[in-house]
Amino acid sequence: MELAADPRLSVTTHPVVGGPTVGPSLNGRLGGLSDYPFTRLAALLADVAPRSNTTPLMLSIGEPQHEPPTLLAQALAAAPLADWGKYPPTIGTAPFRAAVHGWLCRRYGLPASFVDVDKGILPATGTREALFQVALLATPQRKDGRQPAVLIPNPFYAVYEGAAALAGAEPVFMPATRETGFLPDLDALAPELLARTALMYLCTPSNPQGAVADLAYLKKAITLARAYGFVLALDECYAEIWDKAPPPGGFEAALSLENDGAGQGTANLLVFNSLSKRSSAAGLRSGFIAGDPALIQPFTRLRSYALAGNALPALAAAAALWGDDVHVEENRRLYRQKIDAAEAALKGRYGFYRPAGGFFLWLEVGDGEAATRKLWGEAGVRVLPGAYFTRSEPDGSNAGRPFIRVAWCTTLKRWPAPVRR
Ligand SMILES: Cc1ncc(COP(=O)(O)O)c(C=O)c1O
Repeated sequence: MELAADPRLSVTTHPVVGGPTVGPSLNGRLGGLSDYPFTRLAALLADVAPRSNTTPLMLSIGEPQHEPPTLLAQALAAAPLADWGKYPPTIGTAPFRAAVHGWLCRRYGLPASFVDVDKGILPATGTREALFQVALLATPQRKDGRQPAVLIPNPFYAVYEGAAALAGAEPVFMPATRETGFLPDLDALAPELLARTALMYLCTPSNPQGAVADLAYLKKAITLARAYGFVLALDECYAEIWDKAPPPGGFEAALSLENDGAGQGTANLLVFNSLSKRSSAAGLRSGFIAGDPALIQPFTRLRSYALAGNALPALAAAAALWGDDVHVEENRRLYRQKIDAAEAALKGRYGFYRPAGGFFLWLEVGDGEAATRKLWGEAGVRVLPGAYFTRSEPDGSNAGRPFIRVAWCTTLKRWPAPVRR
């Protein structure tokens, strides 16, 4: 047989006209996004050399620097070698779900039946990818006959905006300024907007401001989600890093609604959490999605196409960590020490306040980009300009512009001189 005559073996060649391309619609949406905050930071500091006689101090990334608990290493070591050879199921393992369920009940005082241990909990490789996917899950083609909206606090975690835009929704930003207690004013949302809302992201404690939504606020958000038929995605990944009192959670609010006689269980609610901050285990990439079984079911379907899942030994380690609160208390103690030190140095300056939760300082320095360049050049301290977390208003103003975000993750020994009086 002549090879070239066999159509199965013929090769069609295309002229090479440039680099690889992606689909036009994805391309258009991707192109509409701002660069990721760390990409913008690298560009801002590209021509600034950090002071040479000091080791640079990275206070830009919210990566916990406390040692992860030994429990993590022990649990990983105890996992059977054969488990590394197995594909993990999308829904994780029963012990993993039971450990998450146990923690939720303990932490938020929930009755065992409130969150369905089998149909209401999914493992996630950290909250980040799950927070991205929820926009794909929640966004229909049209809502109320119009392009769906995804409501996002402003400032915000960049993933929310990317997820909303790539899902084909319009990201709509809700100001969360000092005047609104650093949380979006839910009463300010117009009914016409709520009617086309497919998804609302809320973060409590919030990144970057460290504001905590109280129970009444969360109840209002859930009530809106039910009244207008949208998904409420509560990003609670800082829930265990708190100063004076444990922040209430979405499930606590849903339970309280139930007790008021207005409850529908976990309807419309999805809660996202992970071990990245709670157990200083960002590298484990282990989190969960929990809530409304009617949402968890399609989420499981979505994830069975889109996700590789957590390795079985990682799920076993995660189960051990969710089962233990002692290491978390120690973690909080270390963060409080740092906030104490920051307070001693910064009280009365730069609008300093003790964040109710999380480990970020949100400091008002006048011009966030200029301060970021100065801190890097003169002190070797890397922070992020507040404007990289905020979307500008149509008039060009940007509420984050006067701020910097300082990720107070470093160990106290490396406490930076520039913030000392
Ligand atoms: C507000 C917020 N949500 C989600 C995440 C994602 O964290 P992870 O995927 O490690 O759970 C982060 C990480 O810094 C964050 O700041």
